[in-house]
Order: sequence, then structure tokens, then C-alpha cells
Amino acid sequence: MKILLTGASGLVGSAFAQSATRRGHQVTGLVGTFTGDIPGLVAKRTIDLTNETAVTGTVLEIFPDAIVNCAAVAEPGQCEADPARAQALNVALPALLARLANHLSARLIHLSSEQVFEGTSHVPYTVKSPVKPINLYARQKVESERLVQTAAPDFAITLRAPLLTGNSLTGKRSLHERLFADWSAGKTPKVYTDEIRQPCTASNLAEIMVELLERNDVRGVFHWAGADTLSRYEIARRIREHFKLSETAAPLEQITRAADPRAASKRPATLALDLKPLAGVVKTPIETFDAQLEQFIIPPAYRAWYFSS
Ligand SMILES: NC(=O)c1ccc[n+]([C@@H]2O[C@H](COP(=O)([O-])OP(=O)(O)OC[C@H]3O[C@@H](n4cnc5c(N)ncnc54)[C@H](OP(=O)(O)O)[C@@H]3O)[C@@H](O)[C@H]2O)c1
Repeated sequence: MKILLTGASGLVGSAFAQSATRRGHQVTGLVGTFTGDIPGLVAKRTIDLTNETAVTGTVLEIFPDAIVNCAAVAEPGQCEADPARAQALNVALPALLARLANHLSARLIHLSSEQVFEGTSHVPYTVKSPVKPINLYARQKVESERLVQTAAPDFAITLRAPLLTGNSLTGKRSLHERLFADWSAGKTPKVYTDEIRQPCTASNLAEIMVELLERNDVRGVFHWAGADTLSRYEIARRIREHFKLSETAAPLEQITRAADPRAASKRPATLALDLKPLAGVVKTPIETFDAQLEQFIIPPAYRAWYFSS
């Protein structure tokens, strides 16, 4: 399959390029500012994805069988800091890609987030649970889901993803990489003991994306996540333990949502996803957190600190 991939330099995009190539697909990747190599691409192009004319021209020129949208402003804080840029990338871009996919009869995978839910339920959210976004990023994801599925109802899959782990191209993007950045700079990361997440690796998410693309009978909104629900503190503590770092070298400050109710009002507390109807019918395994830990590498930029600590 000829696949056009946006956000090819990002955490998920770079993982997708490798998974899709392993399955024999040809992936052309679009990047914004990244200048390094991206394993798995047959071609890489630099483009400003907020430029609708450039995006349209590129899609029509490549004429892909499938479009995979991994570009976004993927951090809630960055959305609040620059709402116009976030709206262009998180809403206008997926809507445009969906119109183009529909025009070309191309499959489309768009990524949304578990954060479309409020986070107050203690039972996992199903694909039919009502959405209730509580921050700008989540509101943009909800809007993008609606626009994508309306513009390309026969071709689009929207996949809601959880907190993602793994190894990024920059070595500075994912959760364990950020912990290493803080620890190596002598900082003590603050981690919530009462925020629950269901992490999976970007590469596992990429595997299910490729599997779904290869099936012609799947469209609509779906959930994917890991097998375990853990507090953010537990996630960080297990990363520290996995890398055999001491509490002195790699301190963690446990915090609770009650300590800052204003911040908490924009952060969903408990996000667990019900993986039906995909669970049990797809080949991609649902990963335990232990299986994820085994895949994490020491980020190259922090190796010297790691081996001296
Ligand atoms: N990371 C998570 O924990 C998580 C959780 C749930 C859902 N998701 C969703 O999964 C998707 C992928 O997230 P991610 O974490 O992989 O994102 P990421 O690592 O932050 O990567 C974002 C990508 O978007 C590209 N991009 C941003 N602005 C651009 C522009 N103006 N023109 C061209 N490219 C631009 C970046 O390219 P350059 O770097 O080359 O500029 C980069 O490749 C997003 O939809 C996100 O909301 C992520």
C-alpha cells in the first residue's frame, strides 16, 4: 500500500513508519522541523501542515492508498499556549485530510486521545461513552473526530490512544525520556499518585494502526491502550526500578490532585479505555506495562549521566 504519513518525525509517526515498512508498505513521510533520518520511509518531505494549499498539492501529487495522520500539537499545555496553531494542526488539518481521503477513496487513520473523556468514571470508557472534554486539547480532539468521520465516513478510522511510551527519534519526547532529562539535570519530577492511565508503546499503537489499515472492513471510532491501569507515580517508579536507578539519583515527588485544584480541573483523573470491539479480534497483542519497560532504551543524550549515576 502507498501510504502518506504526516508527523513522521513524532513519537507515533516514526514508529508507524517502521511497522508499515516491515509489513511491506511504502511510506512517504511528512515532517515539519525535523532534519534527521527516519528509518522506514521511502521518501521524506518537509512541509508546513498548516498550509492547506501545500497539503492539498502534496496529497494529490502522491495520490496515496492511505493517509495516516500523526501530526498534531500533542501536548495540552502547548495547545493552551498557542490555540490558533493547535486548532490548525489538531482540527483543520485532519478535516482537510479527511476530505482529501474521501476524494481519493483512500483509507485514513486519524489519532485522537483518551482525553476526550472527563476522567471521573471508575469503569473503562467504551467507544459509545459520551465524550466530555475538559481542556482545549481534548475539545480539539472531539471536534476533529466529528469532522473526520463526517467527511470520510466510508474511509476513516479514528483511534483514541492513551498515554504513550517508547523511544522517540529525538530521545526527548516520551515519558521515560523526560524523566531522564529531569533526573540528569538534577530535578525532581512531580508525579500524581491519583491520576490513572493505561499506557501503551507508540510501536504497539503503530502495529494496530497497520493491522487496521490492512483490513477493509473497519471504519469508525475505536480505542487502543495497554493492559494495565497505573497511577502516574507507579509508572515513573517502575521506570526508575527498571533502569536500576536509586531514589537519590532519580528522585520522584509524589503529588495529589488536591494540591492544585485549578490544574486538576483541566486534567482528567482516571482514564481507562474499554478496548472492545478490537480486543480479542485483532492480532496485535495488548501490552502489559512490564512488556513496555523491556523496550525502553537509555536515551542517548543521557547515557553519560546514567552510567555515572
Ligand atoms: N504522545 C502521547 O502520549 C499521545 C497520547 C494520545 C494521543 N496522542 C496523539 O497521537 C498523535 C501523535 O502524537 P505524538 O506524540 O507522536 O506527537 P509528537 O511526537 O509531538 O509529534 C508531532 C508531529 O507533528 C509534526 N508537526 C507539528 N507541527 C507541524 C507543522 N506545522 N508542519 C508539519 N509537521 C508538523 C511534528 O513534526 P516536526 O517535529 O518535524 O516539526 C511531529 O512529527 C497526535 O494526534 C496526538 O494527539 C498522543
